[in-house]
Amino acid sequence: MIKPDATMKGSTGGILQMINEGGFRIVAMKMIHLTEKNAGAFYAVHKERPFYGELVSFMSSGPITAAILEKENANPAQAEEGTIRKKYAASIGENAVHGSDSDENAQIEGDFFFSKLEQF
Ligand code: PPS
Repeated sequence: MIKPDATMKGSTGGILQMINEGGFRIVAMKMIHLTEKNAGAFYAVHKERPFYGELVSFMSSGPITAAILEKENANPAQAEEGTIRKKYAASIGENAVHGSDSDENAQIEGDFFFSKLEQF
């Protein structure tokens, strides 16, 4: 997801360019404005955390771009300088993008936003 902060600031194009240059294939993509209920469900894993309310209200504060990206052996542990967050994030909450933390969660989160007909 490109989060509302980055979307509002007009950073979507720059972020998509970095994704392209990073060699990812775009499997699916769309803009959507999550309701509080949608965002609450997406981040349900964090519902006991103190920042949950803030996170849900931020993520439903404006449109986001949801995308499924594919790349063989993409390794977030190796990403340091030149990352999207390094360039675009303002804080731990307004961190420009959300990425799935495992292949299993990528499947769940991709299916949250896209039907099978929308995945290419
Ligand atoms: S964890 O335990 O590693 O999963 O947690 P973390 O990745 O640090 O944070 C999970 C998501 O919660 C957001 N977050 C916050 N939002 C608002 N305020 C505070 N203090 C805060 N701390 C964490 C953080 O941006 C993560 O969102 P995603 O979308 O997963 O990047």
